[in-house]
Amino acid sequence: MVDRNERETDRPIPADTSRSPPEQFVEQANVSDPAIYDEFEDSWPACWERAADRLSWREEYDTVLEDEDAPFYRWFTGGTLNASENCVDRHLESGRKNHVAIRWEGKHGERETYTYRDLYVAVNEFAAALRELGVEAGDVVTVYLPMIPELPIAMLACARIGAPHNVVFAGLSADALATRMDAAGSEILVTCDGYYRRGDAFNQKSRAENAKLSLEADVRTVVVDRLGAQLPHVLGEDEWDYDDLREEFSGETVDPVARESEDMLFLMYTSGTTGDPKGVVHSTGGYLAHVAWTTRAVLDVEPEDTYWCAADIGWITGHSYIVYGPLALGTTTVMYEGTPDYPDRDRLWEIVDRNAVDVFYTAPTAIRSFMKWGEKYPDRHDLSSLRLLGTVGEPIGPRPWNWYYTHVGGEECPVVDTWWQTETGAVTISTLPGVDEMKPGAAGPALPGIGVAVVDENGVSVDPGETGYLTLTRPWPGMLRTLYDSDDRFVEEYWAQFSDPDANEWRYASGDTATVDEDGYVTILGRVDDVINAGGGRLSTMEIESAITDVDGVAESAVVGRSSDSGDTKIYAYVSTGGRSEANAELRRLILESVESAIGPIAKPHEIVFTPELPKTRSGKIMRRLLEDIANDEELGDTSALRNPEIVGEILTDRDGG
Ligand code: WTA
Repeated sequence: MVDRNERETDRPIPADTSRSPPEQFVEQANVSDPAIYDEFEDSWPACWERAADRLSWREEYDTVLEDEDAPFYRWFTGGTLNASENCVDRHLESGRKNHVAIRWEGKHGERETYTYRDLYVAVNEFAAALRELGVEAGDVVTVYLPMIPELPIAMLACARIGAPHNVVFAGLSADALATRMDAAGSEILVTCDGYYRRGDAFNQKSRAENAKLSLEADVRTVVVDRLGAQLPHVLGEDEWDYDDLREEFSGETVDPVARESEDMLFLMYTSGTTGDPKGVVHSTGGYLAHVAWTTRAVLDVEPEDTYWCAADIGWITGHSYIVYGPLALGTTTVMYEGTPDYPDRDRLWEIVDRNAVDVFYTAPTAIRSFMKWGEKYPDRHDLSSLRLLGTVGEPIGPRPWNWYYTHVGGEECPVVDTWWQTETGAVTISTLPGVDEMKPGAAGPALPGIGVAVVDENGVSVDPGETGYLTLTRPWPGMLRTLYDSDDRFVEEYWAQFSDPDANEWRYASGDTATVDEDGYVTILGRVDDVINAGGGRLSTMEIESAITDVDGVAESAVVGRSSDSGDTKIYAYVSTGGRSEANAELRRLILESVESAIGPIAKPHEIVFTPELPKTRSGKIMRRLLEDIANDEELGDTSALRNPEIVGEILTDRDGG
């Protein structure tokens, strides 16, 4: 046991800043008995029945966890269920048909409300339409929609007929869409005419058309009319209008298809170490059980709540905590199309106030912006309806944490700092808000039933306070089942590093580094792979680099993340032009264009530094660590291992001068 005072300096969070859950919160919390940790421990893995038993099963499962074929774990086998039935139909049957399911807030102040009954009608009609378009159970449907109600409707319609959805973030480029459709073998696309981007009507349909040009398959497309007369469009061959389809199938219902627990509910492409995006496969039973359980236990959501996760459904956070988690519980989920600063910087607080939002969940990057803008914006509104605040996506750090706690939560709402990933499906590390002390900056302990270890290269647990690799030591229900079409890569990327297959010991490598303290609280430090968390999504530096080197005149490039003053991660690109180092405006323009077209605007570098060469080791490896230090204005370490140390001076001059 380490003496607290002695460790004070390297402890990420001084003990005296930890906070107890507010009493009035604990009194009403869904989970408030600390015994839950032991109960889960003592009955693992059967403890997860608690999560599964909150779902409606067509046929009861007979085995909680099958691990014979690890790391291809199988949860709740023998059971069948349907996610759409769990998120919609059962709330009608329980007499909640007029309860609001989705409250949509449009960018320009438009509002739409879907009760569970409305959602049922919409999902059924669209499911009937998809069937008519030839979609069968198992067919992958790609959905390329911005934050409009048709997005969750399309997802639930797919789930209803057993067709896995493949949602592609609407801001990604035509190339990115084509790559993901091709990899998933998807021949049906749901998109829209366009949407508002920075006030302009942006043409999404033409982007989708460009994607289709590079696909071999004949793609059937459904087009949602978001912009009407603002952006007139013409339907081509194999294209259908969403509203026309709804009308054609008006009043039709489709029986939810009974899916095996392990059947794929959806697939989501995310960035990894190597260039190709990875198709993360999620199951039906385990995923839904885990998201519903964490929505209730961690976010403390109750059916009567108005709950708002201000993320985009195009990423995993929105899948799990705008759509599946809250709808499985029968609560009201708010969906917001716009940005936090339009028409003014109090937009989110205005929405919280007007809808009396109970639980609010967002990302540290947003919180840092709020902090920069100042408390006068939240102060304009009555935020007393809030009961709990959540954060996800990046390390938050004590200062933004405290700001959020004080100025948004009025020191009355617990803040849950939830760590998880596209691959984990649902939250795996967080405090339980009605049970645990909060330590601002540390995410928290492993949730009940989850096993966490921070280890060195050899898989040995490090001492409290030491940096190591964050691993998960046990399977969990929401875990990814494989990478689509790449079982080998699944094992290689996540299990090979720290597992001992001969001893049948499996350990999941998260790709994050972290420290853990004496109380088991994990503080996340960052990623070990070449992934940047920026603009709410996960980007691969290799993907960006390859788009940059596609440009004529570029020899090589290295992309790193830079923490900006406001705390966001900015994308910093070093570009070598093979001899010339002048900052070249035309080349800069071509680079930005190429990245935008290969990935999307979110991946465009904020800074481009031209250099005759990249700094390399004698063995020819790019010294990324050094480039990261330069980008972050850190003191530069030893550069003696460099083959071309003189280049560092040139880069610094170029950066400071140009
Ligand atoms: C990071 C988002 C610190 C982490 C749900 C992880 C976090 C990656 C936290 C996954 C947190 C997520 N504190 N870092 N509370 N939550 N991360 O797949 O690096 O988009 O590996 O899933 O975000 O990003 P993804």
